[in-house]
Amino acid sequence: MTELELKDEALKQLVDAFYARVRADADLGPIFNDAIDDWPEHLEKLAAFWSSVMLASGRYKGQPVPAHLKHSSRITLALFDRWLALWDCTTNEMMAPDAAAALQAKAKRIAESLQLAMFFRLDR
Ligand code: HEM
Repeated sequence: MTELELKDEALKQLVDAFYARVRADADLGPIFNDAIDDWPEHLEKLAAFWSSVMLASGRYKGQPVPAHLKHSSRITLALFDRWLALWDCTTNEMMAPDAAAALQAKAKRIAESLQLAMFFRLDR
């Protein structure tokens, strides 16, 4: 497989491949498959998210924290490790090494801030 550079088109391909794996994963799959009705729309949203994060495109206008808080009864810290492991595999396989490393570092930081919001809130 050719190694992709960081561009919108490549990010869309990456997101599509990643969520195909997520949906097939025994632990993560059911959560996503229950939550998401319109997969093409979700994949567009996630491609826009990564485009905003990596390319500062401003294409994503959403609120990831409340989106995940809705599902906090089903999401565990161990599932975050699984998510990140799948992300690392997919980015290593599809992206050029520098791009893969940058995508992995970003995901790790975002995962940490989602975890803080979900599991370590002091106000409840
Ligand atoms: C949305 C699950 C980790 C980024 C969602 C949704 C689910 C989900 C179920 C759909 C929410 C809804 O509309 O009802 C999970 C699980 C994770 C995880 C189980 C790990 C255990 C992450 C990480 C990132 C991320 C690490 C970013 C690096 C997003 C974004 C959305 C989303 C951007 C769209 C939010 C919106 O509607 O604007 N996630 N997620 N997720 N997730 Fe995750």
